[in-house]
Amino acid sequence: MALQIFLTTGHYLCSMSKEIVVSGIRSTGHLHLGNYFGAIQNYVKMQDAYECYFFVADYHSLTTHPDPKDLKANVFHVLAENIASGLDPNKVALYAQSDIPEIPELYLMLNMMAYVGELEKVPTFKDKVRQQPDNVNAGLLTYPVLMTADILIQKAVKVPVGKDQEQHLEMARNFAQRFNSRYGDFFPEPQVFRFNNDAVKIMSLDGNGKMSKSENVNATIYLSDDDDIIKKKIMKAKTDAGPTEPNAVMPDYIQNLFLLMSLCSKPETVDIYRNNYNNCTIRYGDMKKQLAEDMAAFVHPIREHAWELQKDEALMRKILKEGAEKARIGASKTMAGARKLIGINYY
Ligand code: TRP
Repeated sequence: MALQIFLTTGHYLCSMSKEIVVSGIRSTGHLHLGNYFGAIQNYVKMQDAYECYFFVADYHSLTTHPDPKDLKANVFHVLAENIASGLDPNKVALYAQSDIPEIPELYLMLNMMAYVGELEKVPTFKDKVRQQPDNVNAGLLTYPVLMTADILIQKAVKVPVGKDQEQHLEMARNFAQRFNSRYGDFFPEPQVFRFNNDAVKIMSLDGNGKMSKSENVNATIYLSDDDDIIKKKIMKAKTDAGPTEPNAVMPDYIQNLFLLMSLCSKPETVDIYRNNYNNCTIRYGDMKKQLAEDMAAFVHPIREHAWELQKDEALMRKILKEGAEKARIGASKTMAGARKLIGINYY
């Protein structure tokens, strides 16, 4: 009987152990629909199937010397927007990077194994050198090392990131390997997590590439945009004179409007405009008016919820604190193990 109970409990524990996912959220900039549908919705889907650690990468943001007065508001803002978008602090560990002292500690150790030559070759670093030649600080150079520490501190195996971060992940695997071959097998090699292969990719409303944080703000719909702004931006979205033959192939900027409509409007509405497109009777002005209305209605509750959360500083602090407590359980274990392997265990 006792054995039976033991086995059942054992099995229960086994099925409870989920793969570990870590990802960092930039603390600057406002979230837009591209982030919402392309990334955050995927994070939301992961919360049940994986043991997730999502953090605001506030240390990383220091590379550009943000005004100290802005830091807290930035962190609370992205935190609130992510929660309003569906991240549940009860399901995932949601924390600030700077609340986990084990991260900079591991970063220091990993820095001893990261070579200046390889760091200088990283394309994102070279971009920064070009963009901000007057501020090529050591933090910028070692950005991939800090990112590796973020990941390895939880011994994560899966890291959901965009294409622009894949090189950083490759470096994280290299650093993990290097540590393991010097000190003994300790860190798993983290892989890029393509949770949803056909992740939604939203284009900028001006038709120039993807909806991105820093480029044309008038062609980007932010979760913080109010109804009027959303309407204005949608009405200005790029269109053309319309199709001239039935069932014509859609230019990508028109496809994008249909994609947005399929995400924010009722399926019947999308069907109507698709039919109009196919029989060349579409009036883009009408379509955009409808889309603007539906999109404003879609974003409205998220914006309001984010605003409510952000204003509630006590709640924000409680969420951060509880998230850090969860994250530090694994982090302190990892650090104790790493120190021991390196030989820093004097007591
Ligand atoms: N560098 C990532 C970005 O710019 C953010 C980030 C920091 C991150 N640390 C991380 C992502 C660790 C994944 C894992 O988007």
